[in-house]
Amino acid sequence: MKVRAVIHGVGHCVPERVLSNADLEKLVETTDEWIMQRTGIKERRMCSDDEACSDLAIGAAQEAVQDAGIDPADLDLVVVGSVTGDMQFPSVSCLVQEAIGATKAGAFDVGAACAGFIYACSTTAAMLEAGRYKNALVIGADALTKFVDFTDRSTCVLFGDAAAGVVLKAETDTDRGVIDSVLCSDGGGAKHINLELGGTRYPVSKPYSAEASPYIYMAGSEVYRFAVKAMGDACCRLLDKAGMTVDDVDLFVPHQANIRIIQSSAERLGLPDEKVFLNVQKYGNTSGASIPLGLYEAAKEGRLKRGMVVMTVGFGAGLVWGANLIRW
Ligand code: ACO
Repeated sequence: MKVRAVIHGVGHCVPERVLSNADLEKLVETTDEWIMQRTGIKERRMCSDDEACSDLAIGAAQEAVQDAGIDPADLDLVVVGSVTGDMQFPSVSCLVQEAIGATKAGAFDVGAACAGFIYACSTTAAMLEAGRYKNALVIGADALTKFVDFTDRSTCVLFGDAAAGVVLKAETDTDRGVIDSVLCSDGGGAKHINLELGGTRYPVSKPYSAEASPYIYMAGSEVYRFAVKAMGDACCRLLDKAGMTVDDVDLFVPHQANIRIIQSSAERLGLPDEKVFLNVQKYGNTSGASIPLGLYEAAKEGRLKRGMVVMTVGFGAGLVWGANLIRW
């Protein structure tokens, strides 16, 4: 009998500090009108100086575990999709594991930038479906504003900090859960979005690292073109693989990077506006947190109900992209 990885609880955590477009107008040569028109973003959340990625991930984990009604000691796995860990190591997932008391869980991070939750959810679901583990916590968490150059108007308006996630349980006798996934990559596009300083190519301690950037670099228009194509392709491949069509999809929860990317992808797929979930206006691009934050809000707003089919799709630095089809 087929084992399915079923979502049993959702959680989220965002920093209290709100950074509005009006705030950014004071920092760089930009306007609320330009940002709204080109990105759809009105405001985003930003960690304080003493807040780090794991603080958000732990908040999201606590809420998800409570929402699922599971004892953290019954978790077999704690998985976090993140590229902005508190430190190079240990992983964010180990800090979450300790904080929530997941005493019997294995813990690891998945590094796939803005597709972090897509990769983490697909990987973890496959581990549950294989029958080896029963209960897992999967979080997407990033604090990209820590690496944003607030003098660069082309990137500083885009990013925000957040964490969100789900509890997955292995179940039989159900058609709910992760239906199927596709994961894709093209390392040839590594040059289009990166963060050089602090890795082993440019360790902070080395004099030659002075030439490396401590900030996120992004070739905006290249990434934009890639994103529209990648989102459409991943969704078509996934629906095909699952033997489903776009009419079977009740809700589309895409990575919230830019409203124009979302709208072009939805249009290419033939998805009507009422099936497209948007919260980019409130949070900007929160990287690995973006998709679970969408799932969280859609569930809490009653747009995502038990039995509905939700298609999630993401893309990011790597380049990587992918999609998960889930029956809620
Ligand atoms: N305010 C005012 N003007 C601006 C701003 C700003 N904040 N930023 C750029 N401009 C200017 C540019 O300087 C340029 O001026 P010029 O024509 O005089 O040179 C003009 O606006 C147009 O710039 P474009 O880059 O062509 O603007 P575009 O419409 O492409 O929008 C954007 C830029 C929003 C960055 C878009 O390209 C985009 O969303 N790209 C995708 C980003 C993305 O999705 N990243 C996700 C992955 S991130 C990750 O994985 C970590």
